[in-house]
Amino acid sequence: MYVCICNAYRDAEIREAARSGLRCAHKAYAALGGGPRCGRCLPVAQDLIDREHDAPAALAVSAAELSGARAG
Ligand code: FES
Repeated sequence: MYVCICNAYRDAEIREAARSGLRCAHKAYAALGGGPRCGRCLPVAQDLIDREHDAPAALAVSAAELSGARAG
């Protein structure tokens, strides 16, 4: 799915930039080769980045909840 029409950046590219350690949409775009133009995509891009960084913690909680559910 295209997130940024101006730069033709896809969600997978933005997620990959987040996994490389970037936490800011502007920095992710710079790493992909360009900055935002109209800026309409930035909230969606930032949400993707935030979710990518939150995903491991959410999985850890789920695993802990599963362990508790099995033990109890
Ligand atoms: S849609 Fe991303 S800068 Fe315009």
